[in-house]
Amino acid sequence: MQNWYKDYVTKIEAYLDGFFCSNVTWTELYEAMRYSLLSGGKRIRPVLALEFCRVSGGTPEQALPFAAAVEMIHTYSLIHDDLPAMDNDDLRRGRPTTHIKFGEGMAILAGDALQSAAFRAVLATDLPEDIRCRAGLTLARFAGEDGMVAGQVLDLAGEKRPLTAPELGQVHLLKTSALIQAACVMGTLAGGGTETQVIAADKFARALGVAFQIQDDILDCIGEQEKLGKPIGSDAASGKTTVVTLHGLERAQEMLKEQTEIAKAVLAETFDDTAGLLWLADWLLGREY
Ligand code: IPE
Ligand code: IPE
Ligand code: MG
Ligand code: MG
Ligand code: MG
Repeated sequence: MQNWYKDYVTKIEAYLDGFFCSNVTWTELYEAMRYSLLSGGKRIRPVLALEFCRVSGGTPEQALPFAAAVEMIHTYSLIHDDLPAMDNDDLRRGRPTTHIKFGEGMAILAGDALQSAAFRAVLATDLPEDIRCRAGLTLARFAGEDGMVAGQVLDLAGEKRPLTAPELGQVHLLKTSALIQAACVMGTLAGGGTETQVIAADKFARALGVAFQIQDDILDCIGEQEKLGKPIGSDAASGKTTVVTLHGLERAQEMLKEQTEIAKAVLAETFDDTAGLLWLADWLLGREY
């Protein structure tokens, strides 16, 4: 992993830690929120937000509140995704999932509260009001009923009946690309990027998100639990349609490379100094966790 990525992760984790460090009445809720949010993870989405802010002309720090907001939504989505009513997984980021540790009720509520906190993070920044407002709308759109949540709905449908290839494509775009789009677009907005750059950030993130989910599906089949920090074979156990069940492992690996190339090609047209983002796309291609 490159040093700039590690530096960004340090900044993001410090910001998240500071965001949830007051004395609150509802201690257990707070513990459950912090347990999930501060348990590691690759931090891909917030790192992308910071880097898009930088390549759009801002400082990475300017995008910290937006980056943190996307990571809060992502963490809430994972807490709920692991619940027995959804993927029913008991391991996440190498630790017992939130509902195993705190109970299902508290896990649902920690996810709910993280979602509210995300919008607080977006709104309570020093950035100009028009940027805050647009970032908030961006996050709402990509997280909600036309974004990540819609993807999770279709993903669940894929346990009951086989999904078609176009439907699975939709699942990937919605459940995974959407939050990556939010991160890249919000980062670009924080950096004062042009409309052309906002559109390019969105396009990059769509393809990168699909690649990311293809690799996630592949790792669910051939990854190692020790490295991944989450159970292997979870998709097969719930009979889900994934890129591997639908296209086979070999084709899935080709699709992963194709989508990564599409993402990388978008960058060259619109941004200078894209070495970090290009490295990141390739690093994700070969990731084992
Ligand atoms: C897992 O996301 C859920 C997917 C959308 C595939 P990540 O692989 O980014 O999970 P963490 O944050 O690194 O744990
Ligand atoms: C989850 O996809 C996407 C979310 C919106 C949380 P998965 O269910 O494949 O993610 P993992 O494999 O549990 O991390
Ligand atoms: Mg799932
Ligand atoms: Mg899951
Ligand atoms: Mg998965």
